[in-house]
Amino acid sequence: MRTQVAIIGAGPAGLLLGQLLHKSGIDAVIIEQRSPDYVLSRIRAGVLEQVCMDLLDKAGVSARAHAEGLPHDGFDLLFKGERHRIDLQALTGGSRVTVYGQTEVTRDLMDARAAAGLVTVYDAQNVAVHDFDGAHPRVTYEKDGQMHELACDFIAGCDGFHGVCRASVPEGALHTYERVYPFGWLGVLADVKPVAHELIYANTERGFALCSMRSNTRSRYYLQVPTTDKLENWTIDQFWTELGHRLDPEARANLETGPALEMSIAPLRSFVAEPMRFGSLFLAGDAAHIVPPTGAKGLNLAASDVGYLWNAFADFYNDRSRAGIDTYSDRCLRRVWRAERFSWWFTSLMHRFPETGEFGQKMQEAELDYLVHSRSASTALAENYVGLPMDFGT
Ligand code: APR
Ligand code: PHB
Repeated sequence: MRTQVAIIGAGPAGLLLGQLLHKSGIDAVIIEQRSPDYVLSRIRAGVLEQVCMDLLDKAGVSARAHAEGLPHDGFDLLFKGERHRIDLQALTGGSRVTVYGQTEVTRDLMDARAAAGLVTVYDAQNVAVHDFDGAHPRVTYEKDGQMHELACDFIAGCDGFHGVCRASVPEGALHTYERVYPFGWLGVLADVKPVAHELIYANTERGFALCSMRSNTRSRYYLQVPTTDKLENWTIDQFWTELGHRLDPEARANLETGPALEMSIAPLRSFVAEPMRFGSLFLAGDAAHIVPPTGAKGLNLAASDVGYLWNAFADFYNDRSRAGIDTYSDRCLRRVWRAERFSWWFTSLMHRFPETGEFGQKMQEAELDYLVHSRSASTALAENYVGLPMDFGT
């Protein structure tokens, strides 16, 4: 088999790239090691930046996100028992975010790919990438006990943090930066009415809490828990009780409880691998970088990487220009590091860090107080939250 772009991984990054390339008449095959059901069972953050919505528009897969997604013009910061609204619209001159589950984005992309009759190989075993430092890159994989080979011009490594692409880059060609946080998020998805119309990010002496949602009848809540905590230590009733403790009286009074559709613990990590291109192999999304979920930048960063990569391939096939290919890594990394900084800062501001004690908490409260009462500080938060542009200028 031969294609122009071999895409490894059918998460949101790989699927979005496939759809955008299809719109530009560029041929791509996606190789995914898991099943479609498994891919759709992963529950991740659900806040889309305008940059991400624009790319979904360009890919022709945004109809449901526009119809069912909830536009949010602000969110609340809760600290010292009081809520303070960050008015995204007013602070950014009209920008907003769309609350729409990542699982639904993935589903829309899968449906569009199937409708266009594009090839995705699911349940591929032993996926390996070869010869990406030369002129004839190729991908091999096993399916139903048979080995297959896919020859291509380029390989897009959209295979997530544990994928094979980054791991195949020769040692020494890659520099990685990492920070692991001393806590995780315990998340619950439940068919209960959200406590408020907008998201609430809470800094409390018991730890961070986040009230988010998927719709007006489905909520997504998170609690900061120690890294050593285990899912089996928690019942859903304990979760609701602890969440109640971390909310203000009004939100607590609105808290509806019910059975969990999903409950899981996720560790928090910041990670970047540089560069994001080696010859004909391009890393995009979680394959190249991870952000802690505070601020929901993961999917949005994956989408902007894919936007740069799509432009690079379109320039190459349409104009025979290698400019986009040669600048891909630098352009991505500039936006990646800004989002890494924001996610690290927002995480540091909102969570209890065991080692910083009471002094650390006082520093956070002073910064939060400044943040909500200084227009320039609120503006910096708002403009990062709604997402930085893809072109920064010089
Ligand atoms: N071969 C083929 N596919 C693979 C391999 C492999 N060796 N290893 C991993 N994959 C697949 C995974 O099964 C998964 O479906 O690659 C896909 C990667 O998808 P994601 O992990 O969702 O990563 P990405 O598409 O970059 O999406 C980024 O997802 O993890 C969140 O917070 C993150 O929101 C961000 C978004
Ligand atoms: C979510 O809805 O899952 C979510 C929202 C905002 C975040 C993180 C996660 O910052």
